[in-house]
This record gives sequence, C-alpha cells and structure tokens, in this order.
Amino acid sequence: MRSLTVIWLHASREDDARHLPVVEHGMSDAFRDFCAEAFNVRMPLEYPPLKLTTVPSADALPDALFIDGDPSRGMTEGGDDICLFMVDDALYSGSVRGVLLKDWLKTYLPAIPKVVVTYPGNAPVVVPQRRWSKKGAEVLANPAVHHERIVHLFKSFWLPRFWSAMRQYVQVKAGTNWHTPGHNGGNAFSASPFLRGLHEAFGSMIFRSDLSVSVESLGDLSSPEVQTPLSEAQKMSSEIFGSALSRYVTNGTSTSNKAMLMTLLKPGEVVLVDRNCHKSVHHAIVTSGAVPHYLPSRWNARLGVWGPVSLADIEAELEKTATMPERRVSDASSPISSRSRPRLLILTTCTYEGVLYPVWEVARLCERAGVLFYADEAWAAYMGFHPFYTHADPVTGLAMRYNAVNERAGAHFAVQSTHKTMASFSQASMIHVSTRFKQLLEEDASPQFRWLRRRFALNGHGSFEKFTHDLHEFLRYWHSTSPHYPFLATLDVAGVQMRLEGMKLIDERLKWAAEFRARVAAECGLPEVECFAGLADIAGGDQDWSGAGFLKDPLKIVLMLRSHAACAAFRKALLKSRIQWEKATATTILFLVTVGTAEEHFEDLFRVCRLNRELIGCPAQVPDDGGVGGAVAGQPVVLPRDAALCDGEFVTLESSVGRIASQFLVPYPPGIPVFVPGLRITEAMVALVKGVIETEGVAAVHGLFCRGGHAPYYVEVLNRDEGKRLECDTAPLR
Ligand SMILES: Cc1ncc(COP(=O)(O)O)c(C=O)c1O
Repeated sequence: MRSLTVIWLHASREDDARHLPVVEHGMSDAFRDFCAEAFNVRMPLEYPPLKLTTVPSADALPDALFIDGDPSRGMTEGGDDICLFMVDDALYSGSVRGVLLKDWLKTYLPAIPKVVVTYPGNAPVVVPQRRWSKKGAEVLANPAVHHERIVHLFKSFWLPRFWSAMRQYVQVKAGTNWHTPGHNGGNAFSASPFLRGLHEAFGSMIFRSDLSVSVESLGDLSSPEVQTPLSEAQKMSSEIFGSALSRYVTNGTSTSNKAMLMTLLKPGEVVLVDRNCHKSVHHAIVTSGAVPHYLPSRWNARLGVWGPVSLADIEAELEKTATMPERRVSDASSPISSRSRPRLLILTTCTYEGVLYPVWEVARLCERAGVLFYADEAWAAYMGFHPFYTHADPVTGLAMRYNAVNERAGAHFAVQSTHKTMASFSQASMIHVSTRFKQLLEEDASPQFRWLRRRFALNGHGSFEKFTHDLHEFLRYWHSTSPHYPFLATLDVAGVQMRLEGMKLIDERLKWAAEFRARVAAECGLPEVECFAGLADIAGGDQDWSGAGFLKDPLKIVLMLRSHAACAAFRKALLKSRIQWEKATATTILFLVTVGTAEEHFEDLFRVCRLNRELIGCPAQVPDDGGVGGAVAGQPVVLPRDAALCDGEFVTLESSVGRIASQFLVPYPPGIPVFVPGLRITEAMVALVKGVIETEGVAAVHGLFCRGGHAPYYVEVLNRDEGKRLECDTAPLR
C-alpha cells in the first residue's frame, strides 16, 4: 500500500539508525488508530502507513520535494505524498534559498500541518499560532508510551469535527425522532412499498444523517458564533485554507456571492466588475443596491469563450479612482453617480476555461487605490494544496500563490464552489476572508481605507468582529434554515481530505493531464498547442499574458475542434462512448479534472480522441466577434436594483431598443447576461439575442418570455415614467 510521507527537517544523530524506525513505527500506529476513529472505515489496516523521510538542511528541501528542485516540475516520489512537516527546533530559524523557512513553507506547503520538535536544553522557539504545533522529542522517541498524545496531535490536524460528531450522533445517540425532516430518519421511505427501492438505492445513512437544527448538539448554520461541532469544523476549514475566517454556505457560490456582496457594498456604491462574471454576481449587485462599473472582458469568437480582463485595463480603472469623490451612504437615494470611488473589484479566477490572474499584482493595484479585491474562485478550490500554483518572480525570485486567499499576497475575499472540484455534494460552497483583510481593517492606518474602518467600526475602530457580525447577518438572509446535514459533512471532510492527501491528488492529476495532452497531440501529429487551448488562445495573442503572471490551469482541459461540424461530430462520438463533458462551445469542449477524476477516465477519453483525431485542431480564425463585443458594451443608466424592482412593462424584443432593461436576459452563447437591469437596450443586444434564437432555439435565451416557444418574444423594461424618473447620470466612469 502507498504510504503518506512525513518530512522531517532533522539534524542527524548518532543513534538515528535505531531511533528513526521507532519514531516511524510509532507514528504509523498512532495514525492508524486516529484514522479508525476519525474515518470509521471497517478495515483499519487499509489506512496508509506513515513514512518518515529526513532532510538534513532547509536548503535541501526543494530537491527533496520537487523534481529538479523546481516546484513547477511537480513533486518527487515521497514529496507527492507529504501530509506532515516536522522540523527540529534548532533548524526552525533556517532559510531556503535565502527565504526564511517559515515563509518558504507558507508559499509551498501552506496547508500541510507543521510541528517543531523540541529538544531539552535548546532555546525555546516561538511558532505561529496557526498551522504550527510543538512536540517534545521525547514524545516521538517513546511512541508506545505517548501513543494517545500522538493520536491527539493528529486529531488536531485532521479530525473532521462535524462529520465525527454527526456520525456519533446517528450511530450511537439518536433514538426516536420528533423533529424535521418529515421522512424521519428514512422511515417514510423504508416503510413504503413504493419508496423502499429509493431508500435501498441511496443507502440508509443518507436518511439517518438528514437531521435538523433541533439536534442542538451538532450546531446551527445560522449561529456560527456558538461553539459546536459545526462551528469548530468551519474553524478547521479556515486553518486549512489559510483564511482569517471561513464559512460554509448552502445553495452554492451563488449564495456566497449574494451574502458577501450585501455585506461589503452599500446602496449606491460603485463596484468594478468583470462583465463576464457569473450571473449570481450580477444578481448580488442588484440585491445590494450597488452600481456596477463593467470592466471590459474579452470575447474570443473563434473559441466561443471569455478571456480575462487585462492588468492594463484594471490598472487604468483603478488609477481613475484617485480623483473621484468619496460616496457617502447617505447619497444612496440620489441618482447614481458613476463618478464616486469604487469600493470593490470582482474578478473570476480561474475563469471557466482555467485562466488564473496574478492575484498578488491585482491586490497591489487595488490596495494602492483603496479598493477591496474579491475573487470568485468557484472553479478552483484546490489550488492551495499544490506548489504548481505558485509563481516565481523572475526578477526577485520571490514566489507568490495563485489561490486568491493566501498568506503571501492576494485577494481580500474568495468564494469557492467546493462541490465543483472537490469531494463534496452539489451546492457546497465556502467563503474565505483573508488575514490581510483583517489586518487592513484592524491594524492598517492608510487613508485610502479609512472608509473601510468606518464601515465596520466598533467603538470608533475598524473591527473584524463587526465585519463578521454583518456577514453572519447576510448569510442568514440567504441560507435555508434547514440545510442538508450530510451536505455540511462533506464540506467538513473535503478540506480535511485535501490537507491529508491533496498533494498526491493534485500531483497525480497534473501528471495525468500532461500525459493525456501529449498522447493526444502525438496521435494527431500536431503540437499540443494546436489541440488544446492555452493561455494565449483563450486570452488573445495581443499581449504577453504569461509575462504578466497569468497562468492557464492545466486541470481545465480545453480541446479544440477544427470547425463547428467537427465539434458536433466529436460530441456525438463522446456520447456514444458515454462520456459527458462539462461544457462545449461551437469549437471547443471543456473537460474538468477534479479530485474525483480517475486515471482510467483519461484512457476512455483518449480512445475517442484517437478514433476522431482528424477532427481535433485549431479552428479557423473568424473575421469578427459575432457581435458579442458590441452587445455587452455599455454601463448602467439606472441603479440595477431600482430597475429590477420597478413595475416595468412587457414589450416585444424588437421594440425594446432604446428602453431600459428591468430584467436579465442570458443568451447561450455567450452565456453571460446581455440584458442587465439598468442597462439601456441597444440594437446590438437585440441582434445578438435574435441571432441566438435563430441558431440555438428560444430555450437558449434564459429570461425571454414567449408562449408556445415562438414569436412574439417579450422582455421587461422600465415603463416610460419610471425610466424618466430613474434615469440619471449616464456618463461612464472617467
Ligand atoms: C464563476 C462562477 N461563480 C459562481 C458560480 C455559482 O456557483 P454555484 O453553482 O456553486 O452556485 C458559478 C457557477 O457556475 C461560476 O461559474
């Protein structure tokens, strides 16, 4: 069986040949007992043993962990299985290639628990409070005597608090239920001759663990301040993901976006937002009453995908803010003034196709302008668990991380759809608030963030507690009061799994994806870049994206097909082989590699590629962008919230030109809202929607009203009185 590795930065001792096997054996024993208790698999011997690997000096760590000492090359054998890092107290203050060990570990092994092994007589070391522990060398040297202490240490790193308590409740404590849900531990299913089959198919545990807030001992999602297994699990997730605060969210990142944006934005405040953000961000802007100012995202008509916003465009917008007046909350009822200072910048990183922003650079630009940076990381919750997602600055050599909330430099907030890429049920999402945000709020005195300290003030000072209180309040607006408990348990275990074996899971998948690409390219007789869309294909060849720090996540495989017909034929072949992709455009197919993707899946996909190799390749350039660029241009002329909540009137699609939209209209493609409440409807917008109806059918336009699936098509706009009353300053941000 494959083992998990414990790397020990250890000054060799004379008796190591006898000593180390004892430590290793004792730790493995304790690990097995811990696993049997924490994960409850019936055959405890199936848990992997721990393998102790000593490294003599901090400078030797890169070679021990990374192939050729280079994190972008992947992990060494042993390095890829790392689950725990230990360091002798005497070596703790060392450095790796000129970077303090503690900081180096923050960059490359952030989620791995770390233990300083202390020896009698050595000067005491002070370790960070989070993610670090201390253990006396005598405990490891005599593991049989200290077995329980070592098990306890492992529990502090990896015990899924909520899942353990819930399992204990269901298996040991639960008796007769007189509370919701009404199926009562599954009785309503198992006792019915008609529903029993469903009970059998799902298995009894899913029903028995479907509990409610009535079981007070487990905790209530609406009261995260109270100490319960549910709140302890969220604390543990915060430690694993390196945040100041993490919160579990039901109903997906759609809900995380709504709760967060209502917490951060006040009515009338300006938010800079990628026009290609997810519709839940647009919805959240409506509900928060904020004024969006859209950043120009790039539509790539050849591939039918969206590129990122360039750093130059972000910088240009942020630079304008210096001369803008502050907007006070009391201005909220006045007409929208697009010239007040923005409070927040929202970007999606990675994009659906896997383009990652250099979050450290975006954060730097934002902080200079007094703007907070909010990262929608719905598609990439796993990045903090592998060193591939780092970027070494070619000049300074300093490495930064791509996961948006990290302990180096990054976004102030990230929201992640845990369910999209990790081991959790659909809808499972997390909010992460960075330690940098906490610092800005409580310790920073810079004038550009004075507004922030006033926004979340307690006794006249910026207060993280006040922020947390506000966030909890808005979470309560959006959460169901009856969340699905098994679902919450998967949020708990998803993070724990990544901390234990995330390095291996991501490393394997990066390797499999790279091998797959190479094999397909060889089979097609083409260079890889002509089979799979890379950074420049997606973002556009007009600038050096990679040089600016952007990265293409290889775990989003974007296969290119030569033409629309080739793509249709390839999709047919996939369906025939019972392979379901994530998303297809007219010339690309996106395959997601997640922690659940198995090596055999690549083999299945490869077989289809081989049989259809003549279909694979760069599609031809298209002469224009299909009208998308023109259709998604423009800034709101009415506050989106006012427009969405007005009486409005239905008009035909054709006659809506020139009116102000009061609803969203999302044609696929391009898959983002073309009508947004508050935008003036243009001919280009209507032409795009009509084009999609013609080519894809009316069902491809979400939000359109019609009867029987045919014309006339109606959309809702402001009635003329409302339009006059609400319309105001139409000048774009200058
Ligand atoms: C960028 C982005 N943000 C947020 C969401 C919403 O996530 P969820 O499905 O978890 O509600 C999505 C969903 O596709 C998305 O693509």
